[in-house]
Amino acid sequence: MNVVIGASSGMGAAVARLLADRGPLLLADRDGDGADIVACDITRPEDVAAVVRSVDELGALVVTAGLSPSMAGGRDIYAVNLVALERVLRAFEPTLRPGSAAVCFASMAAHLMPLPPGVGSVLDEPSSPAFFDDLAAAGIDVDDPSTAYAYSKAGVLRLVRRLAGTWGTKGARLLSLSPGIIDTGMGRLEASNEPMMEAMVRGSAIGRQADPDEVAAVAVFLTSEQASFMTGTDVLVDGGAVAAMVPPTP
Ligand SMILES: NC(=O)c1ccc[n+]([C@@H]2O[C@H](COP(=O)([O-])OP(=O)(O)OC[C@H]3O[C@@H](n4cnc5c(N)ncnc54)[C@H](O)[C@@H]3O)[C@@H](O)[C@H]2O)c1
Repeated sequence: MNVVIGASSGMGAAVARLLADRGPLLLADRDGDGADIVACDITRPEDVAAVVRSVDELGALVVTAGLSPSMAGGRDIYAVNLVALERVLRAFEPTLRPGSAAVCFASMAAHLMPLPPGVGSVLDEPSSPAFFDDLAAAGIDVDDPSTAYAYSKAGVLRLVRRLAGTWGTKGARLLSLSPGIIDTGMGRLEASNEPMMEAMVRGSAIGRQADPDEVAAVAVFLTSEQASFMTGTDVLVDGGAVAAMVPPTP
């Protein structure tokens, strides 16, 4: 069974279209329609458990569900983008078999904001009851949405590196994908609130935003047999935006 979580809009909907003719497909989203898309809020363990119960053996899992800085406060952004995502991956572990492959959507933001010392080890324990206190103790304003977005996505990159070994023992692969600026509802919302994004697009090698299908194609490739030697890493799909902004260390 292939599964897309975040399938109601944007890149998740594009992935769902591409996977439609590749076997049984389960679509889930917080904004489920009750018909084609199952209602599942990934911050609710019981919703995730219900989705996992419908899956005997996992084929592809693509999780695009996420919140951006204009959508919520800092704590909610961590709660969806990192805390809930880890729980989703753990919940699917019993369904893994040789050939299973998951792609978790991160962001180029994770490549642009270096982590202050000590923060990485806190991001590696998202299920700790002390998660937010430990972030605050490391000097992070946990309520700031922009920091929460960049650090939660940095946590996603670290999450796939941490769990890839366990997935590997089952013959399964686990990756993250970091989009640049993509023409979706979320991308348009952030661009309207953050004028810098237009400059980032103009300064990138490709010089335009991506269509969601251009990113979905990479996600689907990563879940396919053609990517059989890829796991435990991030794939940046940003039109060269990070390359234009972050000079290599001399
Ligand atoms: N659009 C961009 O420019 C861009 C850039 C970098 C990273 N991303 C990341 O890519 C992913 C997809 O973004 P998009 O542009 O397609 O956004 P989108 O808002 O169009 O789609 C995200 C989907 O996730 C769902 N969702 C949100 N919270 C959820 C929850 N708690 N449980 C289940 N579903 C939930 C939403 O209902 C929505 O359908 C996100 O994780 C986002 O952070 C997007």
